[in-house]
Amino acid sequence: MNKEMAETLVRTGPCTPMGNLMRRYWAPIMLSGEVATPDGPPVRAHILGEKLIAFRNSDGKVGLVDEFCSHRGASLYFGRNEENGIRCAYHGLKFAIDGQCVDVPSAPQACKHMGIKGYPCIERAGMVWAYMGPKGKQPPPPAVEWCDLPPSHVFVSKRLQECNYLQAMEGGIDTSHVSYVHRFEVDEDPMHQGTRANEYIKADGNVIFEIESAPFGLTLYGRRNGDPDSYYWRVTQWLFPWFTLIPPFGDHPLGGHVWVPIDDHHCWAWSINFRPDRPLSEEERCHMQEGKGIHCPYVPGTFRPLANKDNDYLIDRRAQQEKRAYSGVFGIAMQDASLQESMGPIQDHAKEKLLPTDRAIVMARRMLYETALAMQDGAEPPALNAGAQRVRAAGMLLNRDVKPQEWAKIHLTGGLDQPVYSI
Ligand code: FES
Ligand SMILES: [Fe+2]
Repeated sequence: MNKEMAETLVRTGPCTPMGNLMRRYWAPIMLSGEVATPDGPPVRAHILGEKLIAFRNSDGKVGLVDEFCSHRGASLYFGRNEENGIRCAYHGLKFAIDGQCVDVPSAPQACKHMGIKGYPCIERAGMVWAYMGPKGKQPPPPAVEWCDLPPSHVFVSKRLQECNYLQAMEGGIDTSHVSYVHRFEVDEDPMHQGTRANEYIKADGNVIFEIESAPFGLTLYGRRNGDPDSYYWRVTQWLFPWFTLIPPFGDHPLGGHVWVPIDDHHCWAWSINFRPDRPLSEEERCHMQEGKGIHCPYVPGTFRPLANKDNDYLIDRRAQQEKRAYSGVFGIAMQDASLQESMGPIQDHAKEKLLPTDRAIVMARRMLYETALAMQDGAEPPALNAGAQRVRAAGMLLNRDVKPQEWAKIHLTGGLDQPVYSI
């Protein structure tokens, strides 16, 4: 990828082409539980290079506003969240959830000039989402499948990833790495073990991709050998601008991620498990809370993974030698994050030498880049409406002469009214 394109893709601050593109979608900001109580403590939220504060007002509504007071710039993190607004602790200016200034004790007539920026928020799937784009362009709420399920059917976690969102998200698009870095983990992990999918993934590390562009982004059909007369296909979607879906393993819950820039050197890796057809079991929920599957254990009191770059991700060379952990790092999330962070905060994309298995990444980059540039000439970004987002990943065994695209036309279209296809 040339330098100009790479720079365009990795910069997401205010007024950058990629930043403008991402700001047209609802952005996950934090877990609803982080601002659980009305008039509770405000929480710092850094998203897309902006320093913001989230708080839940007395009416129970969440707001996301500039972190800094318009008067002389004190942080509202130290403010008082009371009576439907956050009051700066320094001289008492008060702001509503939309950023409007509602009180200037020393000069009430100045109120209308003292507002700060405020972004509309909604809550879906136990997450707070904000719309940070231009007024008048706010899209309908996000409609990826897990957003609209009852709380009993969904589990969501987030972890800090200490690198640019692009190299993190590309791990979600590139399913060829599953045969390598996750090779031994999938046998032990309670959210993956005991499935035929594992056997096929381990037996055939040479996944061959067929990729289709779609109204929402990309559909990837990854082919591995199945039984002598069949292929094992994994169907993965990437949705504009930051969603990836994971094909399921056996009867385990389905999965997905959202990769949201904090700034150009950090992102939130959101990990979601869900079942459209049933509540998650107590046992499944327990595993997720313990950090199994695509989740991870944390440094207590933070969203920083316990295995992080300061401790070399707790690498265990013996486990690597004994084939208990392919890279020596345990945990699916940290196996990915360790390698992605090891590239540096922003990978030097101009230096990489891509291979045929990277074709989906190349296509996603191009789609993001071209859309970001086209938006400068007034084009609209894709997949803003709910209809385009209602797709589901799948894993299936098909006779060798069956085209997966044909199969998908019958079994995966029609939105989400289809059964889950998984082996
Ligand atoms: S700095 Fe906030 S009221 Fe003065
Ligand atoms: Fe992975």
